[in-house]
Amino acid sequence: MAMASVVGESEIEENEIMRMGSYGGKVKVLRDDQESPAEEIMLLWGIQQPTLSKPNSFVSQSSLQLRLDACGCSLSILQSPSSLGAPGVTGSVMWDSGVVLGKFLEHAVDSKLLMLQGKKVVELGAGCGLVGCIAALLGAQVTLTDLPDRLRLLKKNIESNLRDGDLRGSAVVRELVWGNEPDQDLVEPVPDYILGSDVIYSEEAVMDLLDTLMQLCGIQTTIFLAGELRNDTVLECFLEAAMKNFVVGRVEQTQWHPDYWSCRMVLYVLTKK
Ligand SMILES: C[S@@+](CC[C@H](N)C(=O)[O-])C[C@H]1O[C@@H](n2cnc3c(N)ncnc32)[C@H](O)[C@@H]1O
Repeated sequence: MAMASVVGESEIEENEIMRMGSYGGKVKVLRDDQESPAEEIMLLWGIQQPTLSKPNSFVSQSSLQLRLDACGCSLSILQSPSSLGAPGVTGSVMWDSGVVLGKFLEHAVDSKLLMLQGKKVVELGAGCGLVGCIAALLGAQVTLTDLPDRLRLLKKNIESNLRDGDLRGSAVVRELVWGNEPDQDLVEPVPDYILGSDVIYSEEAVMDLLDTLMQLCGIQTTIFLAGELRNDTVLECFLEAAMKNFVVGRVEQTQWHPDYWSCRMVLYVLTKK
């Protein structure tokens, strides 16, 4: 009897580890019931112990630029630390989640678990634009989006980092405010991938963000969202709402870029139900 229950448990565990969307790596799929978001939060904060590792390990938010090697290029991302104090401005500097997501994409493509060449990618809340730059270097046709007053720095970073010779894909910058109707060419054809780093950080914005994900996402779209474990209430609120319309899976840290992982970070894959 005891043996049967052990076998049963391991079968369930195995079923929760699967492939999702166009990502070839295995992810831990969150169970589709009411307790699941709370259990996920307990697991992340209880086992991963995010507060024990240092925040902003991969960025320096007081510098005017962030240098990072990716895809054989030396990227230099301009930041505007002085704008960070303005109400509602967060995208004027880079956040760890952006570095982690960008390097994850590079690593996953190198490991043949992901194919971005020729794929349509939309980045939400792109900030300084590192993630979108890396996706374009990996061959994707990327649209980097953000709030209207964030686009100047974003454009500058695209122009100064993506030169024709290095570029296998393309990158354009576009305004997209979460919750507003997206331009038609963002949804037609439906994106292959949607990317977002550090976009789950305020309870008020969660529903608008999910509204935009629903509007952009088709049945074949794979969403990658990387985030920092700062606020359990906001993440739980996001997971609760997201799981109504999306299958949510967590990419284990063993699949991230080996030099760019941290206990403060989490990386989710979402596909439409
Ligand atoms: C914490 S920053 C992260 C920036 C960048 N993704 C990174 O990882 O460095 C959050 C980003 O989301 C954008 N954002 C916040 N609320 C938004 C909204 N309602 N619509 C569109 N973008 C929004 C901000 O302008 C900012 O660029």
